[in-house]
Amino acid sequence: MKFFVDTADTAEIRDLAETGLLDGVTTNPSLIHKAGRDFLEVVREIAGIVPGPVSAEVVALDHKEMLREAEILRRIADNIAVKVPLTVDGLKTCKALSGEGTMVNVTLCFSANQALLAAKAGATFISPFVGRHDDTGFDGMQIISEIRTIYDNYDFATQILVASVRHPVHVLQSAMIGADVMTAPPAVIRQLFRHPLTDRGIEAFLADWGKTGQSI
Ligand code: G3P
Repeated sequence: MKFFVDTADTAEIRDLAETGLLDGVTTNPSLIHKAGRDFLEVVREIAGIVPGPVSAEVVALDHKEMLREAEILRRIADNIAVKVPLTVDGLKTCKALSGEGTMVNVTLCFSANQALLAAKAGATFISPFVGRHDDTGFDGMQIISEIRTIYDNYDFATQILVASVRHPVHVLQSAMIGADVMTAPPAVIRQLFRHPLTDRGIEAFLADWGKTGQSI
């Protein structure tokens, strides 16, 4: 499973990229707002840090205007994936862009049927939001299973990009189901490294090493 980080914080991206774990980056208008930086400038910087896909989202709602914005975004770098919402205009834009060889991430997906439409429109990635789905009292991961089955039934090449990941269990379940990608905030990716027994083990080893009086 590929690991994307869901942030526009370039310091975090640089630090996580050093672990060799990062396969890509996703951003959205809220994350750009949080970063407090110029949109095009920050996306250009991110695309230079991570060689994998970097999602940058259009904000227009109509097809023509989405295409105009997408043109600006895809010119930033070869590894830009244009992010469009799962609407009729969004999928028209997806169809047009993917036909020209541009990577497209279809976002704000909340059902397996929506994911089926995105795959038929040629999406590179479909982003079902599991956390936001959980928030409404449903099981977000159930949709990931359904999409996996549908995509496998018809050999769709669209990659399932699990988004709105809130905790390590979402990551575990994504991998168990066979999602292609998951995108998580930096804090959740950092949580994956941690285990109390690892910390306790290091403490015990260091205590015993101290007693040997040796150094390396
Ligand atoms: O980037 C899209 C998605 O990951 C947003 O997550 O936590 O705002 O629901 P969240």
